[in-house]
Amino acid sequence: MTRYSRITGTGSFLPPQCLTNADLVAQLAKDGVETSDEWIVERTGIRARHFADAGMFSSDLGFEAAKKALASAGRRPEDIDLIIVATSTPDMVFPSTACILQHKLAQIDAAAAGIAGAPAFDVQAVCSGFIYALTVADAMIRAGSAKRALVIGAEVFSRLLDFKDRTTCVLFGDGAGAVVLEASETPGILASDIHADGKHVGMLCVPGHVQNGHILGDPLLKMDGQAVFKLAVGLLEGAARAALQKANLQDSDIDWLIPHQANIRIIQSTAKKLKLPMEKVVLTVHHHGNTSAASIPLALDVGVRSGQIKPEQTLMLEGVGGGFTWGAVLLKL
Ligand code: UT7
Repeated sequence: MTRYSRITGTGSFLPPQCLTNADLVAQLAKDGVETSDEWIVERTGIRARHFADAGMFSSDLGFEAAKKALASAGRRPEDIDLIIVATSTPDMVFPSTACILQHKLAQIDAAAAGIAGAPAFDVQAVCSGFIYALTVADAMIRAGSAKRALVIGAEVFSRLLDFKDRTTCVLFGDGAGAVVLEASETPGILASDIHADGKHVGMLCVPGHVQNGHILGDPLLKMDGQAVFKLAVGLLEGAARAALQKANLQDSDIDWLIPHQANIRIIQSTAKKLKLPMEKVVLTVHHHGNTSAASIPLALDVGVRSGQIKPEQTLMLEGVGGGFTWGAVLLKL
């Protein structure tokens, strides 16, 4: 019998500290950096972002989202036999955030300790990270090497922001989203399509690195926003079309588009290319800005919990980010 994978639970978490555009405008003004609520809303759709307090890491945000996803799937930590965390803001250089998160889940109670021993690793594909992680988890489940996976996107991008650079610091925030993905006799994940092209490394990057106890190079986020914008729409359309083709489906079969939440204008352009009205797009970017690998599972969870997304509907998840990386996953809930 063919084995598939299917999402059985979703969860998300935003850290409590919320900065509206007005809050951020006032904070930046103290350092002579000029921006405005009007500019941010008009160019990006963003109205607020959440920042994690010092001492709160990606594993903490991911832990909260994972607990909610487990609860909504009716599962416990000890039921999980694979953990994949998509993040570009790991707690440490090593070990992986997935290992740290696994141990947090294992400490919930005596039975939860049974999650120890499950393979746990991070995927680093920046804003496409969750699409990559879901693709890997699906492949491992279909291959029979896992039955029940936790797939998490968790980021503290606020730590990478240059608050003197108004072209980037207004765009990003912190958060996490998670799904439980289980082996199933019926699909679930219908198709996925992931790509990378390293020639664009410099377009969106954090170039610094640790060497002999020092940070060498700039440890803050650099982005050529216009170049990213121009590239993103075409790549997202291409990945979505490739996933549809693999599943033998059409644009019109998509019930919901759940895009990476970076910029409302990129989302609108992509929806238009896929001939989808904005009523079929789950939008959360205004609440939390670009949370990188967390943004797609965050939006998925919001769509599911709000009742917008119904069981058995067909969803197109898609993302693009540093690397350049991009991809799409087409699935039935
Ligand atoms: O996950 C993937 C990650 N990245 C993205 O998705 C980002 C993709 N790119 C974008 O979203 C957009 O390119 C931005 C939102 C970053 C910028 O929007 P834009 O419409 O491409 O603006 P622009 O870069 O062409 O800048 C227009 C003007 C410039 O002023 P001048 O040269 O026209 O006088 C900028 O200096 O807006 C100015 N500007 C700002 N003004 C007020 C740039 N940032 C700000 C700001 N507040 N925060």
